[in-house]
Amino acid sequence: MLEKLKDIEHAGLEALQAVQDEAALEAWRVTHLGRSSDLMVVFSGLGGLSKEERPVVGQRANEVKNALEAAFADKAGGLRQAALKKSLEVEQLDVTLPGRKIPAGRLHPETQTMRELYHVFGEMGFQVYRSREVENDEFNFQLLNFPVGHPARDMQDTYFIEGGGSSDNPIILRTHTSPGQIRAMRWLSAMAPDNPPPVRIILPGMCYRFEQVTNRHETQFDQLEGLAIGPGITFSDLKGTLADFARRMFGQNTRTRFRASYFPFTEPSAEFDVECFICGGKGCAVCKGTGWLEIGGCGMVHPVVLKNGGYDPERYTGFAFGLGPQRMAMLRHHIDDIRYFWQNDLRFLEQF
Ligand code: DAH
Repeated sequence: MLEKLKDIEHAGLEALQAVQDEAALEAWRVTHLGRSSDLMVVFSGLGGLSKEERPVVGQRANEVKNALEAAFADKAGGLRQAALKKSLEVEQLDVTLPGRKIPAGRLHPETQTMRELYHVFGEMGFQVYRSREVENDEFNFQLLNFPVGHPARDMQDTYFIEGGGSSDNPIILRTHTSPGQIRAMRWLSAMAPDNPPPVRIILPGMCYRFEQVTNRHETQFDQLEGLAIGPGITFSDLKGTLADFARRMFGQNTRTRFRASYFPFTEPSAEFDVECFICGGKGCAVCKGTGWLEIGGCGMVHPVVLKNGGYDPERYTGFAFGLGPQRMAMLRHHIDDIRYFWQNDLRFLEQF
């Protein structure tokens, strides 16, 4: 029996030398230390041995078991080391390589323009009033003196959300920021109906029109509306305010001009131009040789609109204006296609 144990030990250790990988090692373990291995058969046969033999063989069997287990652990450690060494050679890691840069984002060119406008008007005492983008016909048109069927509505092709045509007050996407004038005036006049406070606000935000999309027209675009109301405000205040705005926005020497125009919610109404800041008024491709750039519309708030906002037109007057910030950004940066703004193409956005 002792002879047999010696063979078992010998065979086990010899077989282990040939083991090269984890799978072979596991197979070796099953053969030499597993439940039906020769060694385990010796252990289960111990009961049948004589009283004298049993402790001697038992002790020897334990020694063989310990020796095989120790050799097994040794081999397993060796294989692990070899695998690690191999992976370090194959997948070399250079800890001195510079890290990957996280690209920093920045503000969209339109957001930059809007913030510049808030800044300029903020310095002039105007506060930002945000109004809803989903409007109804009453606020977008009727209260601004565009009655149902008024031809001026044709200039603002409208997206209908609900009740288009059949209802007399359909839900629509606002076609301009002007309905915010009514909402702001009503909110303020409700605080003191007999003596409403003066108003000096700008109303920025998205507007929507069912436009044929071209390099000059998009179905969504920003506007920046302005509204000032108080006792004794005149057209000179409007001119002075917009002239001052143009100088702050485009440079100290920028000249402005006003051309008579028409809007239902202002009377009189004007178109507002600034001297071309690209060529300084000499005439260039951007101003199409005229020396002037059209920036927006303006006028004195119509008495009907004042009344609809809760302001008595006998006691209050006011002016309003509407600017196209995207147009300003386009002129300034020589952007020749308005569709770039919301395409989210990094090749465009990274230039600002
Ligand atoms: N709401 C006009 C439009 O979108 C722009 C406008 C013109 C606004 C004159 C005004 C204004 O406040 O006085 O076409």
